[in-house]
Parts: sequence; structure tokens; C-alpha cells
Amino acid sequence: MIEARVQVDTRAAGHIIPRTIYGHFIEHLGRSVDEGVWTEQGRGEDLFLGGISRPVLEAIRAIRPGLIRYPGGCFADSYHWQDGVGPREKRPRRKNRMWGRFGKALGPDDHNHFGTDEFLALCREVGAEPMLTVNVGSGTPEEAAAWVEYCNGSDDGYWGGLRAANGWAEPWSVKYWCVGNEMWNPGEFGFCGPATYARRLVRFSQAMREKDPTIRLIAVGAIDPWNWWNRTVLEDGGPHADYLSIHAYHPPLFITNELVRRDRKATADAFYWVLSGTEDFRRILERADKACARFSPPGKPVQIAFDEWNVWYSIRHIVRSNYNLRDGLFAASILNLLQRLADRVPIACLAQLVNVISAIVSDGNNAYLTPIGQAFKLFTENAGERWLPAAVECENIRSGGKQFPALDSSATLETSGERLGLFLVNRHYDRPLSVAIDLQGFDSESTATLELLHHDDPLARNTFAEPERVAVRTEEVKLPPSPRLELPPHSIAALILNRRPAD
Ligand code: AHR
Repeated sequence: MIEARVQVDTRAAGHIIPRTIYGHFIEHLGRSVDEGVWTEQGRGEDLFLGGISRPVLEAIRAIRPGLIRYPGGCFADSYHWQDGVGPREKRPRRKNRMWGRFGKALGPDDHNHFGTDEFLALCREVGAEPMLTVNVGSGTPEEAAAWVEYCNGSDDGYWGGLRAANGWAEPWSVKYWCVGNEMWNPGEFGFCGPATYARRLVRFSQAMREKDPTIRLIAVGAIDPWNWWNRTVLEDGGPHADYLSIHAYHPPLFITNELVRRDRKATADAFYWVLSGTEDFRRILERADKACARFSPPGKPVQIAFDEWNVWYSIRHIVRSNYNLRDGLFAASILNLLQRLADRVPIACLAQLVNVISAIVSDGNNAYLTPIGQAFKLFTENAGERWLPAAVECENIRSGGKQFPALDSSATLETSGERLGLFLVNRHYDRPLSVAIDLQGFDSESTATLELLHHDDPLARNTFAEPERVAVRTEEVKLPPSPRLELPPHSIAALILNRRPAD
């Protein structure tokens, strides 16, 4: 048995963890909307808003998204929001201008039945903060400003009145708005350099804030080791931005064949090669944070919105993906990282929510959580509002020239100070860990709740036939005075401890 130790000091309670770090993303891409979120299948009374099947809604509710981003992604930079409001039968059917270029499987035609109000009603139903991406690629500042007014304006104005006439009397009060997406990407509508983008950011921001000065804007950032893009955007457009958007996928897109081959072999090396990507994400966020610290306008720190992240092995996973337990471990490590960095990275979105490189798989009617979705469930059900420093001592895993700690951890405390959540990921392929738990300043009750996500097969997946093959199991555990927890190989755990009441 390999020994490890984690020390948590509750007397040093740190930053607030906003629920917006547990975010997700819906894009009009592949079967994400049509046949995914919005199915129109089943009997009328089984459909939320007439289009979202109850199992899909319950699956989304189960992972408690803190925020959902929509309608893209690359799609957003060629989307005109007015196509997706008003009576559904009158909405135009459109070609998917972005993804349709790669065929109907990636970009099916869009009937626009799932649009602004359906998205915002879904967010309200599941308690998620909405985040909308305006079209900077083929759209105008005026179109974006009208969208802000449609969502947030009172019903005595033109666009707010239109929303009310469409059946939504109360303003939606959408706070977060992304000003375009990945403008540095040659495949993006509106592809440009950072100085041009910064000028657009200023124009869009001025028009949008005129309609609602309280909105928070997310500027396009880049994974940018040389700070070339981020520096220009922050220096020229920083006063207009509240957040800098960073996207990262592991492995870096399209360099995937090697992994797909190794993946099939199901070796420890392939397993570790995937998990080593969590260290890449840490470096990416730390680098972006340095750029924000250095180039934000004086007195106005721009923070990071990590609004697309995931493992993504192949372009075909847009059409069909079904993540396994190893991928769940990857996601859990990133959720630990996000809890640790939440004061500098207060927004994050897994890409994506349903059917496309996703947390949830749906066939239109039924739905299940992948191990990535299960990892989200484990965190969002158990995380407290405050981060606690957790010092880990353990051996490093060394594989293929990379190394990273075998045990990954973060800890949280509820605002009341009574409930502590300890999140642990054993990233060993085939070896259990015995973890000594040292709690400073927290006298725990002698029993605790253990939530465990594990399966003997590190590559186990869920299916429609076995939707809970890899699922969180809950048990009560006894805690001796110097507690130890045995973590099976390739497992994720949340240990929930309650403070012993004072005598
Ligand atoms: O999440 C899929 C795509 O990946 C998004 O549209 C884009 O922003 C990113 O490159």
C-alpha cells in the first residue's frame, strides 16, 4: 500500500468559491441541441417547455450547473439571435453556417426551436447563471446591444416589449456576456489579430453597456505563451473587459492519433498520458493569470473565464462521445484545480453539456451521466462555499517524460464552518493509496460520509443498458482519532465531515 498524507487547516479559510466555476456549455453543434437538449420527443406533458425531455432535464439538474454558456463557441460568431425568438412555428430554418461547412453530422440545419428564451428558462429551472456569447464575427454592436435589451430591458422599451410579447414578461437579467469567441482561430467567422479584436471589443462593449451598464463582459483571450494576444487585448481593451476567456482541450486539438491508438491498448502509459494534461491546464491558467496581473488596467484586475475545457481525443467525438472513468478522473482533477484557483478563475465551463464531448449522453428521450458528469455531481453536491488550503504529501507518478502527484486534493468549508468537504483523486492506474488525514482546527464527529466514484476497470463507461455502471456510491465511515482513508486505484472521493458540537 502506498502512503500519502493530506493536511487541511480550517483556521486559514481562504477565498469564496463561486458556483460559476461548476459551469457547462451548450452549442449548436452536432447532436448537442437537436436530439440532445431539445428533442420534442415524447408526450407533451413529459416535455419541459415543449422540447426538453424529463430525463434530460433531470440529468442536467443532477450535476447542478452553476452557469451555462450558450450558443457557442464558434457557432456564436455566425448566429443571429432574432432567428431563435418568438413563436416557434414562425422561426426560420437555417443552415448551420459555422459547423455545416464540415457536413451535416457536425452542423445539422437548425429549426431554431431552442433559442434565447428556451435557454434562459432552462437555466432558471436548473438554478444556473446564464452566459451568452454575442456575434462579433458576422454581427454588429447594434445587434448585440438589442440582444442585451431583449434579455434585460423593461417591457416598455422596444426589445424588452418584444420579449414580453413573446410570453416572458420579467427581464431575464443576464449578467455574463462573451464578446465573441476564439477570434484568433483561423476557422472562426471574424478571424482577426488582437488589435482589431480589441477595437471591436470597445465598440461592442460601449453599445451593450448603454443598454445595461451592470453587465459583465468576457473578452476573447488565448493560450498564449508569449503574451502577444492577451497583452494587446488587455492593454487596448482591458477597461472594457471584466474577464479574459481561456480555452484548453487535452490533448491539443488534432494531435490525437497517437492517443487514440494508445487508448485502444488500455495501458497504464495511455492512462497517465491523459492525466498528465491536468498539469498542462494548471500551467495554462497560471500563465494567463500572470498576463492578467501584468497587463490589466491599473485598479481594474481582469479575471479569467476558463469557459471551455475538457479532454477531446478526436474530431469524431463531436458526433459521438462517451467518456470513461479515466476522463472522469481528469475532470475531477480540474475541479480540484478550479476550487484552488477560484479567486482568479471565478468562471469555468466544461465543453460541453449534452452529446458533444459531453457530461451527459442522451438519445433524445433517455439520458445518463458519463463519469465526467458523475464527477461534477460528486463535487457540486458536496463542495462548501469557502476554499481551504490542503497540503498533500505523496509520491509522483512518472510516465512518458511527465510527472505529477499521485494524489490530487482540494478542501472546502461551508459558510457555517460546520461542514468540511475533502476531495481526493487517486491517479494511480493500479495501486491503492492509504491517505492519512490531518485536520487542523476542526474537531470532527466520529462518523463521516464517503462518496466514492470507482470501478475496477479504469476505462469503464456508462451506457443506456447500464447507465449507473460508474456512479457515485455513498457510505458512512468511522473516523478513528488519526483517520486514514483507503482509496482504490483510479478513484475519486469526497469525504464529508461534520464539526463535533461544542459540549
Ligand atoms: O467546443 C467545441 C468548439 O471548440 C467550440 O465551438 C470552440 O470555441 C472550440 O474551439
